[in-house]
Amino acid sequence: MTDKKLYNLAKEAMKNSYSPYSDCKVGAAFLTASGKVFTGTNIENAAFGPTVCAERVAIFKAVSEGERSFSKIAVVGGKGGVIDGIFAPCGVCRQVLREFCDDDFTLLLGETPDSFKTLTLKDLLPLSFSPENVK
Ligand code: THU
Repeated sequence: MTDKKLYNLAKEAMKNSYSPYSDCKVGAAFLTASGKVFTGTNIENAAFGPTVCAERVAIFKAVSEGERSFSKIAVVGGKGGVIDGIFAPCGVCRQVLREFCDDDFTLLLGETPDSFKTLTLKDLLPLSFSPENVK
């Protein structure tokens, strides 16, 4: 799986966004160590609080299917589905990623429809609190 293909899968997932309140459409594609891909999109709710981000939908789909080892994630988003700059994972999603991924885990964050920035989880969540802290 190339980075470009993973990015394209995140863009495909974005099309399924259920975001009638914010009109922010987000897609994520999470690649497992064994090469499987789990996609997710953001799912909003009239009560606002139950809204779930695209990243967590993808991660929880993978974990609930028994996956525990991950290679990288592509994330893309924009108001009205227009990709115009990085739509960075929120703090909660960063912490959820850290539960299953090490500091050097790779994130591909969409900047334009054809380009993304490559970062590590440590870039987004330095000095992280991780499962090692509670062992
Ligand atoms: N959103 C995500 O899907 N991922 C993030 O990391 C940030 C925010 C969604 C949640 C909500 O549906 C919309 O973007 C606006 O916050």
